[in-house]
Amino acid sequence: MAAYATLAFVVDPESPDPFAEARRRDGVLVADFAGEAIPMILGHRAVRAAASDWQQFSSDAPFRVPIPSEEHVRTVRQLPIEADPPLHSAFRALLNPIFRRPLQPDYVARIDALVADQIDAAVASGTVEVVRDFALPLQSRALTLLLGMPETAAEEWIGWGIHVFHDGDDGAAKGAGLDDYIRHMVARAQPSGGDDFFSALTRMRFEGRPLTTDEMVGIANLVFAGGRDTIIHSVSRIIAYFAEHRAALDAICQDSKQIAFAVEEFVRVISPLTHIGRVCPVATEVGPVMVAANDRVSLCWASANQDETVFDDPGTIRLDRAPNPHLGFGSGIHNCLGSAQARAILRSLIRQLGARTGALTIIDAERQFEVMPQYRRWVGYSALTVRFEGPMA
Ligand code: HEM
Repeated sequence: MAAYATLAFVVDPESPDPFAEARRRDGVLVADFAGEAIPMILGHRAVRAAASDWQQFSSDAPFRVPIPSEEHVRTVRQLPIEADPPLHSAFRALLNPIFRRPLQPDYVARIDALVADQIDAAVASGTVEVVRDFALPLQSRALTLLLGMPETAAEEWIGWGIHVFHDGDDGAAKGAGLDDYIRHMVARAQPSGGDDFFSALTRMRFEGRPLTTDEMVGIANLVFAGGRDTIIHSVSRIIAYFAEHRAALDAICQDSKQIAFAVEEFVRVISPLTHIGRVCPVATEVGPVMVAANDRVSLCWASANQDETVFDDPGTIRLDRAPNPHLGFGSGIHNCLGSAQARAILRSLIRQLGARTGALTIIDAERQFEVMPQYRRWVGYSALTVRFEGPMA
């Protein structure tokens, strides 16, 4: 009971679940995204069922899986996310060996070293703006490990900001910059170049032939865009959470199982990716809404993760929640390919914060909300200034 009291906290009375009412009413919220009315599927079971039915809810829709759609910020179809089987399965299989790297103990040790360096630097400087000067560099440097690239490569990626398309005024210019970088890297990559990601792309074979340039660019585009703001918001929110609940950090940080549970609970509660789109190839009934052929629906992971028919007391963060069938990493055939990387980073963050810091004090916090006409949802921080102190001697 004592441990439970330390580990359970009401999420945040100022940011209630914006989907609760519609989810309880009929499970669907029709929301306006840049002029497109999209029914959001809200209940846990309905979201999971839709995610596993790719014939009815298809991802074979270049630029239209993200919401709002991304025709204006990139030129190629992202793979494997914007494809259905068999194309999806073939590309996913090609990428699996890379994305499984974080499951190796030596990889975890390298992530630990990276996180430890970053925390020690924060303690040395005292006060740090966590979003841009901690979470963003950590995400980019950790990506160099996943992609087998030198850590110096991260310096250019850090310059792209929190979101490769939307962080700044001109999403199209940012998207073009990412495209140029990737095309340049693909053009100079050699099949004999070694273990780095771009050389690996040139060695991959699909139906017996090398990948086309657009296929390589589409894979790389997703790798750079996909796990970026999601990781950055998670890192920032975990640091803020433990600054306010230090006793909980001390209670879990020695036990890898407790840390793993805590990471799942943070992904459930934060739900860094609110939702994702699918296209209905034929007219489809979604709750009370009839979706016309070729129109879109949203699978709302964030709402599913607050479904009170699945999660006992969903508005409370219970760091020891288990089982925790959250959909923060998606569900079905497109479930997050980067989840092992995300888990490795977030687990290491908790472990190293517990071991290498004393008091963490929030000096200033500016929350970042996802604001749409029909809902407003807290996703992370646009800025978070924290004073890091070292552990007591
Ligand atoms: C906390 C961090 C993360 C969250 C919450 C998250 C969430 C998600 C979700 C919900 C999906 C499902 C999309 C769909 O159903 O269409 C997904 C897919 C994907 N994610 Fe993540 N993600 C995270 C981190 C990452 C990272 C670090 C990477 C790569 C470095 C990554 C790469 C991908 C890829 C490649 C897919 C597509 C998989 C497929 O289509 O088969 N993600 N992610």
